Amino acid sequence: MRVLLVGGAGYIGSHVALRLSERGHIPVIYDNFSTGHRRFVDRFEVIHGEMADYECLRHFLKDIDAVMHFAAKACVGESVSMPREYYATNMTDALTLLNATVDAGIGKFIFSSSCAVYGAPERLPITETTPRCPLSAYGHTKAAFEDALKSYSAAYGLKFVALRYFNAAGADESGMLGELRSTETHLIPLVLKAASGQSAEVSIFGNDYETPDGTCIRDYIHVNDLASAHVNALDLLIHKEESDVFNLGTGIGFSVLEVISAAEEVSSLPVRRLVLPRRPGDSPVLICDGTYAKNRLHWYPQRGLTEILRTAWRWQISNTAVEQAIVC
Ligand SMILES: NC(=O)c1ccc[n+]([C@@H]2O[C@H](COP(=O)([O-])OP(=O)(O)OC[C@H]3O[C@@H](n4cnc5c(N)ncnc54)[C@H](O)[C@@H]3O)[C@@H](O)[C@H]2O)c1
Repeated sequence: MRVLLVGGAGYIGSHVALRLSERGHIPVIYDNFSTGHRRFVDRFEVIHGEMADYECLRHFLKDIDAVMHFAAKACVGESVSMPREYYATNMTDALTLLNATVDAGIGKFIFSSSCAVYGAPERLPITETTPRCPLSAYGHTKAAFEDALKSYSAAYGLKFVALRYFNAAGADESGMLGELRSTETHLIPLVLKAASGQSAEVSIFGNDYETPDGTCIRDYIHVNDLASAHVNALDLLIHKEESDVFNLGTGIGFSVLEVISAAEEVSSLPVRRLVLPRRPGDSPVLICDGTYAKNRLHWYPQRGLTEILRTAWRWQISNTAVEQAIVC
């Protein structure tokens, strides 16, 4: 299948592109390179385009069989203070992509949703039927786009899979792909930067949550496990032609302090910490119940926190020079 990966030059999209090509599909990357990197996808067909550009999308969707949608603004904290930008990209521009997809007669769509749709659920672990109650504009845009997919599916026959990722982390085992952002907000790269001396310390936002050590707990899922879930989701759309929504996580939660300790062990270096007040929009605990994905998507996460940190550390030390150039 020829699959258009919108936002495919980013962290998760580039790993998915690699897995798709290994499984015999043809990834076509569509990206504006606002946070993505050409070198992540230089072996594939690449289109430099905006998600808001309906005509450009229609042109390139002509010979496409399925669409995977990764492009988004994706910082929970920033979305609370800049909701306008988040609704513009994650809703208005994303709807342009959805309209272009339907108008092109493409019936398969896979969406990068997020556990941020759940907010701070009372019951853990989180299943797909846990009520959605986002705490941030980011989470609201993800929930709203899921709703749009349901409406479009009912009206236009589009089949979709929405994948609610928990915290994506780690890097490809090849050492060629990983997290690379000019402004990093994700915990694991920030902890490893502090370990390697690229930053003085790692900030901990709140140590007074109702968790065993007072810091937030998250479910970290290796990016290559996420990548294989996309291939399985595409198979589901090909063979079953039914829309569905899946949580993607390991079912195991780690606190911020546990992640820092594990990173110290993997890197054999100490990590300095700075405790700051809680951030608006952060949930205390997010842990996935992945039973439905196992049963229906036949998807089993293969890698745990140590493997996540090992691959991320390897990526971090081999890309320090590149990162510094991007930051400059
Ligand atoms: N990283 C995580 O832990 C995580 C967790 C849950 C959900 N998600 C979702 O997964 C998706 C991918 O996340 P990521 O971490 O790979 O982010 P990323 O920033 O690395 O990738 C996003 C890609 O989209 C491109 N893009 C952004 N706006 C665009 C536009 N208007 N037109 C064309 N291209 C555009 C960027 O250049 C980039 O290549 C996002 O939708 C994000 O909300 C990520």
